[in-house]
Amino acid sequence: MKLFIDDANIEAIKRLTDVYPIDGVTTNPSILAKAKRDPRETLKEIREIIGEEAIIFAQAVDLSYEGMINDAHMIVDLLGKNTVVKLPSVPTGFKAMKALKKEGIPTCGTVVYTPMQAYLAAKAGASYVAPYVNRIDNMGYDGVKVVKEIQDILDTHNMDCEVLAASFKNSQQVLELCEYGIANATCAPDVIDGFVRNMAIDGAIQDFVNDFKKLTGKTSMSELA
Ligand code: G3P
Repeated sequence: MKLFIDDANIEAIKRLTDVYPIDGVTTNPSILAKAKRDPRETLKEIREIIGEEAIIFAQAVDLSYEGMINDAHMIVDLLGKNTVVKLPSVPTGFKAMKALKKEGIPTCGTVVYTPMQAYLAAKAGASYVAPYVNRIDNMGYDGVKVVKEIQDILDTHNMDCEVLAASFKNSQQVLELCEYGIANATCAPDVIDGFVRNMAIDGAIQDFVNDFKKLTGKTSMSELA
């Protein structure tokens, strides 16, 4: 499962990409708004941090077909290769997905709450579909189950489209989809930090250091030399 950071906070992205095996960064207009600066500057800085081989997702904001196409061109011009344009999975978005597929610009059908949205986005040529796990949970449905149903549809119809599961609030939601073979997950920094936030792990690691110090008086192998 590829792991993406769903955030535009530069310090968080630097910190997380330094230690975790991160495959890229996903953004949306609300995430960019939290950075409180020109979104072009934010996106370019993210691209510099993650490098040109990592994938960056940026969303078209204009809701008209022509505006989506213009936004997509602007985003790709700004961020170069390995950029995916997110488009809402609604009729105008499907039209834009079909046109951008012909141009060779990869897209992600986003704002996915139902399997039918995902199916239509994939059929329209989107390379990814992004179901919102936690937001679906908050509506009283089962977000993880919806993602699995979407994966089953893509597999059944042999569609050239990957799930980018999004909107997580805890590790368990991510782990269950990892077990199911979902290709991509994008998580906010606090969710990623929560993957290994566990007092049992921290305690076991500290015990090793304490035991070694009792034996040698040192806290590292290299100090013995
Ligand atoms: O990027 C879209 C999705 O990840 C939204 O997440 O946390 O706002 O529900 P959230």
